[in-house]
Amino acid sequence: MTGSIVNSKIIVSKNIDELSEHFAGILVHGVDASINFFNIAISGGSTPKAVFDYLAVNYKSKIDWQKVKLFWGDERCVPPDHSESNYKMTYESLISRIEIPPQNIFRIHGENNPVEEAKNYAKVIAENIPVDSNLPRFDLIMLGLGEDGHTASIFPDRLELIESNDICAAVEHPSSKQKRITLTGKVINNSVKIVFLVTGKNKSKTVDTILSKRGGYELQPASFINPTNGELIWLLDLEAAEKFKHNLEGY
Ligand code: 6PG
Repeated sequence: MTGSIVNSKIIVSKNIDELSEHFAGILVHGVDASINFFNIAISGGSTPKAVFDYLAVNYKSKIDWQKVKLFWGDERCVPPDHSESNYKMTYESLISRIEIPPQNIFRIHGENNPVEEAKNYAKVIAENIPVDSNLPRFDLIMLGLGEDGHTASIFPDRLELIESNDICAAVEHPSSKQKRITLTGKVINNSVKIVFLVTGKNKSKTVDTILSKRGGYELQPASFINPTNGELIWLLDLEAAEKFKHNLEGY
């Protein structure tokens, strides 16, 4: 079931496999259509992990991974073999199971000094991602959504990062105080395509607050993710869409 709201498409799936299949279709279309490399910034979290597993099993040979360059939208400031590393999660669930050249992997060095690494990764992006409107323009940015409305690692206490002129920032998780590196809002919004992947009942209130612009939506960073010249797609499962789905035809 699909719907749209202010230049965004909303696709509700019965389960994670159906949601993953939708994401795979977006990826296949993008990679096939790209003349050179297809630059994607991926997300951490349990939903992306399930999608990566699905891609590894079902799209190992259906996507020309040689054309895909992997970047991260955010990373925890931990070593790459740490249980909380987004790189480690992606390596185990996807990278180690597909034929993607090592030189196509641009991980954030979570083991480095956060402020230094934010600068370093901004340089890596500037050197590898085409520029449009004076900003790096990814072909696709995959995002998750926290219950507090955070996305990537732009948390509610750092809303100014939505409009920052820096490509990356070093931040701190508001409750765990874990240091993180994140892309900032302008870079995310400069992407050709932005896809939110959100599952679970615990996200249904946040999804509805953001998509219906209910009270307090302006305090949630994900509310400010709107591509300046691109497409926004929300891939939701039935649970995450529970409070919002009445806005969609077919409900
Ligand atoms: C991270 C992610 C973060 C995540 C959301 C949703 O590094 O944790 O970038 O933004 O996508 O917290 O995570 P879940 O999909 O696990 O709910």
